[in-house]
Amino acid sequence: MNRPRSTNNLVLFFVASGIALLAVYLLWSFQGALSLLLSKRMSANPSPETIVSVLKLILVGVLAYLFVRAVSSLIFRLAFRLRRGFEAPTLVRNIFSIVAFTILFFLAFNHWFSYVNLGALFTTSAIFGVILGLALQDTLGNFFAGISLQADRPFQVGDVITVGAQRHTGVVEEITWRAIKVRTFTNHVVLINNSTAAKEPIEVSPRENLNARLVLFNTLYTDSPAKAIHVVREAVREADNVSQRVAPIVRIRNLGDNGVEYEVKYWLDDYAKYNDTDALVRQRIWYAFRRAGLNFAFPTRTVHVDRKPTTGVREGDGGAIIERLAAVDIFAPLSSEETGMLARAAVRHVFAPGETVIRAGEPGSSMFVVHNGRVRVQISENGRPRTVATLNEGDFFGEMALFTGEPRTANVVALEETEVLEIGHAAMKTVFDTNPDLVESLSFIMAERRQGLAVQSDASTAPDESAGILSAIKRFFGLS
Ligand code: CMP
Repeated sequence: MNRPRSTNNLVLFFVASGIALLAVYLLWSFQGALSLLLSKRMSANPSPETIVSVLKLILVGVLAYLFVRAVSSLIFRLAFRLRRGFEAPTLVRNIFSIVAFTILFFLAFNHWFSYVNLGALFTTSAIFGVILGLALQDTLGNFFAGISLQADRPFQVGDVITVGAQRHTGVVEEITWRAIKVRTFTNHVVLINNSTAAKEPIEVSPRENLNARLVLFNTLYTDSPAKAIHVVREAVREADNVSQRVAPIVRIRNLGDNGVEYEVKYWLDDYAKYNDTDALVRQRIWYAFRRAGLNFAFPTRTVHVDRKPTTGVREGDGGAIIERLAAVDIFAPLSSEETGMLARAAVRHVFAPGETVIRAGEPGSSMFVVHNGRVRVQISENGRPRTVATLNEGDFFGEMALFTGEPRTANVVALEETEVLEIGHAAMKTVFDTNPDLVESLSFIMAERRQGLAVQSDASTAPDESAGILSAIKRFFGLS
């Protein structure tokens, strides 16, 4: 069975305390007998009393250590967390433990060995000082560097840092008296000595700071920079974890050998997830390029001949588009020539999962048919999004703004990679001119959809609504 580490530590602590207390009890109860035994078996120097005192000192030392651990846990874990809502740094806890233990140990030492002058021992023993100094050189270096890191606080637990000769990058997990513990983005733990960190430049991206990233891309020289910059900025600003507080900046970085080189500078809500966010930003750029007919630059040595149109119906795809449009219920009454005309006028767009196809409140002069994938129709209610419908392949949307000239009534967002066919005003007018009945069936559907958008208290009824919409469409399209 896998018990949590803290439970294991607690069990270990109680077992160790029990054993130490038992040993103290036995030593104190049988110290007379033990001295006697030792005096029989050993020479007079060191005296049996001294040996018993040393044993007592060791046992009391163990007890003092356990006691300090318990007190430190109580004070720092419970009191600090409950009362101030934060955990004390490991280094502070360690310093407290070392100081408290040293005081307790020297008190005990003084009790049993009061005749030993500790001050004189430390001050006069030059050799002791040299040995200690050499042995603890690195340890003390780390210790004092750790203290200066705590005092200076150039970074904190949770910040992303890049440090060390190997330029390790990761999230700071802990700062101990010896080292900084960094979890890299490949989930390895790297320990960087405090003294090393104190000497090296450290790049810090604080958790609370708005940290930025640069993602590079390029286009062909024939693509308009103004268009590329606009398209990429709009595509990136909506990606997850891209901060809404600052708009991304897209700019030309270089006029390179292969094409125009750009960079997108964007800010992150959670910098520790920059790898995923960079990848998402690149993905969004790809889809946005595809929709806008922009092209990534290929190496100039590669002869890249691409005759496929990037928007509009591709040759050879016409059949599938006609089939799709013929299956849309409102287009059922159309003749095959009319459906063919609509198919030729339709423009294909691909959207990534989560991308917005239509934004509520914006003007719109086209409608869409879902060719592949799924979309969600959402409105904002009390500042929160509410889904009013999910539309699948063969469903259409965007007709309300197209047929009435009013702003878009809802957001339509791709649920998965979705391909839509966009049909504009001119093509629909041609269809309406020859199929007046279509306007009526559309007005019914639109009235129903309006009801779905309305709040409960809205008193309007579908037939009234439908009549109103019918005349609005006729007016807008100049139909009799
Ligand atoms: P439009 O207002 O142009 O843009 C948003 C679109 O969402 C709208 O046209 C409709 O096509 C669609 N829509 C709005 N409400 C509903 C609904 N209740 N059910 C299905 N689709 C809807």
